[in-house]
Amino acid sequence: MLSSQVVIIGAGAAGLMCALSAAARGRQVLLLDHANKAGKKILMSGGGRCNFTNLYCEPGNFLSHNPHFCKSALARFTQWDFIALVAKHGVPYHEKKLGQLFCDNKSSDILGLLLAECDEAGVELRLATSVTTIERLPDGYRLQTSAGTLSCQSLVIATGGLSIPTLGASGFGYQVARQFGHSLLPTRAGLVPFTLTDPQLKSLCSELSGTSVEDCRVSCNGQSFVENILFTHRGLSGPAILQISSYWHPGDSIGIDLLPHLDLPAWLAEQQRERPNSELKTLLAELFTKKMGGLLAEHWFSSRPLKQYTPTQLNDIAERLANWQLVPAGTEGYRTAEVTLGGIDTREVSSKTMESLKSPGLYFIGEVLDVSGHLGGFNFQWAWASGYAAAQYV
Ligand code: FDA
Repeated sequence: MLSSQVVIIGAGAAGLMCALSAAARGRQVLLLDHANKAGKKILMSGGGRCNFTNLYCEPGNFLSHNPHFCKSALARFTQWDFIALVAKHGVPYHEKKLGQLFCDNKSSDILGLLLAECDEAGVELRLATSVTTIERLPDGYRLQTSAGTLSCQSLVIATGGLSIPTLGASGFGYQVARQFGHSLLPTRAGLVPFTLTDPQLKSLCSELSGTSVEDCRVSCNGQSFVENILFTHRGLSGPAILQISSYWHPGDSIGIDLLPHLDLPAWLAEQQRERPNSELKTLLAELFTKKMGGLLAEHWFSSRPLKQYTPTQLNDIAERLANWQLVPAGTEGYRTAEVTLGGIDTREVSSKTMESLKSPGLYFIGEVLDVSGHLGGFNFQWAWASGYAAAQYV
């Protein structure tokens, strides 16, 4: 039977960071993954350029039933610590917007630096290895795997959430948590596009598929985000929609202000004075694209020369554009979601060490826990920070 001080299951963002940090402390680390490649999500992330952290990362960027849980780990391994690691490896990067840091070249630069650090620190990486059973021993854990029996003092679960099963996601971490007496909070897809079934809405979105509108304010349940929205064949996507999806529950309405930076009632009244013979659809085409202006004029308003609208009618048009209310039919689900909301209840895990309060020597890190970040590099920062925190104690 092979014995190791630390076994980490899951060679994704959190598992790799935990492995390299624990091995750098002199721990003997075995990192396992059932996939044939480490860090598949890192490679896919940020459109191939990995949005690896955010300059403005703070606890308010995370959703959890226990909002204080993430604070300690985030304070002990900050965005600046990860940026220093990126700089150490000479990986070129840039701020895209809103503090979001992306690689100049490819996501593989980030995976490459993590693997190089693991290699240098002496981490043993075993891919294409699945774990069938885990058993508690008096001084650790015994695992039956496709590569034989293993034992360890500390066992770290870093198997992530349920999003994108084709990238290796599985419910394994939840199953282990349940086995050792942990409670699970309901899981659902987060940072995910909305689908629509209302025939009129669906046809509007489908006709506009591929069109994006910059800097819309999208609101739901007391939260709002100002970012781009994107029309798709199935409904709505784009950063503002992905962000709000994490706050949305089935049946909730979302509000979209298509022009939050414009005083629309005043602007429409001014246009009516200055060019009374212009058609509404011409104005809308100037605010959006020609196609979108035409479709909104057709679906929402009957387009006439501006002089034919009463002040009340102009205000109604402004209100419709500033407060478009719609009820999504659902989301695209785990197939395209960037994260899984919910998961292992953090009230049963130490926020300092990430160790289970139910089973000594068992640790949970990354997305498998009930901590999910906003879009913009926050989810990787949580993976780095929680992985680093556990690494100090395993
Ligand atoms: P992660 O999912 O990275 O790793 C889990 C690992 O465990 C995988 O390697 C998996 O194969 C393995 N595993 C699962 N079950 C197993 C089992 N039974 N046995 C053995 N191994 C098992 N975030 C961000 O901050 N910036 C970004 O740019 C993006 N972009 C992005 C794009 C896309 C398409 C997705 C889906 C997600 C993102 N994210 C993101 C989110 C980010 O990828 C995610 O939050 C982290 O990868 C979570 O890190 P973990 O290590 O917890 O899980």
